Amino acid sequence: MSLLSVDDLVVDHRTPGRPAVRAVAGASLDVAAGEVVGLVGESGCGKSTLARAVCGLTAATGGAISFEGGQVTRLGLRRRDPELTRIQMVFQDPYASLNPRRRIGAQIADGLRTAGDRETTPGGMLERVGLPAAMAGRYPHEFSGGQRQRIAIARALAARPSLLIGDEPISALDASAQAQVATLMRNLAVESGAGLLFISHDLSVVRLIADRIAVMYLGKIVETGPTAEIWAAPRHPYTQALLRAIPEPDGLGTLPEELPGDVPDPADPPSGCRFHPRCPMAMDVCAKEEPAPGPVSCWLYPPA
Ligand SMILES: Nc1ncnc2c1ncn2[C@@H]1O[C@H](COP(=O)(O)OP(=O)(O)OP(=O)(O)O)[C@@H](O)[C@H]1O
Ligand SMILES: [Mg+2]
Repeated sequence: MSLLSVDDLVVDHRTPGRPAVRAVAGASLDVAAGEVVGLVGESGCGKSTLARAVCGLTAATGGAISFEGGQVTRLGLRRRDPELTRIQMVFQDPYASLNPRRRIGAQIADGLRTAGDRETTPGGMLERVGLPAAMAGRYPHEFSGGQRQRIAIARALAARPSLLIGDEPISALDASAQAQVATLMRNLAVESGAGLLFISHDLSVVRLIADRIAVMYLGKIVETGPTAEIWAAPRHPYTQALLRAIPEPDGLGTLPEELPGDVPDPADPPSGCRFHPRCPMAMDVCAKEEPAPGPVSCWLYPPA
């Protein structure tokens, strides 16, 4: 059984006087305990919206989210079930999870209390993320960006989540800290038996830490598979374009701005396959009918 199972999730953002934006348009995704899943896709494709719906922070419009066998979908904005402390998020900006006016030790202690953990000390958690225990008395501004992100990870893990979600947790860090912090997050999640959903623009870091990759395009998952397989033989033309756009030879790269064509407006998506206007392989059927969901959702690979 999956730890997290997102099934045909739909999330609309409604702003009065404007058409609803279907940020997530029927996306399915699973994360198993101890598994690291990398979620990638261009800016605006719905990654953060999906993550927020999983945490119960944004109401789902349709579909189902089950976490540890229970439904998350219906919680919506008002009520955050205590069970959902079993899901912890780390954001791009650590100040989204850390209070600048409280000592970091006290903030980590909040997480430990949530988990009913009386054994572990905040200093012990700091050591697990590679910082000296004695720093527990300091405030967030006394640390570098990379250190602050380690503290945010310590705070999240103190609550003993069974699912950790990182929403671009490394994109504000300098290059040398990125791989370190991502690897740390992976190792600590896996050691504690938690699943990790890691959202990143940086495909090379996702390749480094993820067991499986899910590629999202305009609200849908267009391809999923084991990282090594996707890397060796991407099947969806969108995945192929993303991987081609990674600068060689150092493999360091972020999602390209220079993919041909603009990302369509999610309030008014193209007919048929949403990628067809930008797809070099588009056929007649692609503009007319949506391809079935699956490991690769594309008319080039019709289901058997
Ligand atoms: N609160 C909101 N109200 C209205 N529209 C929103 C809201 N949040 C996101 N959107 C829209 O929903 C779509 C998906 O946004 P989302 O933030 O989930 O994408 P993302 O993949 O996380 O992008 P990025 O990589 O830039 O973080 C975008 O078109 C965005 O403009
Ligand atoms: Mg985002």
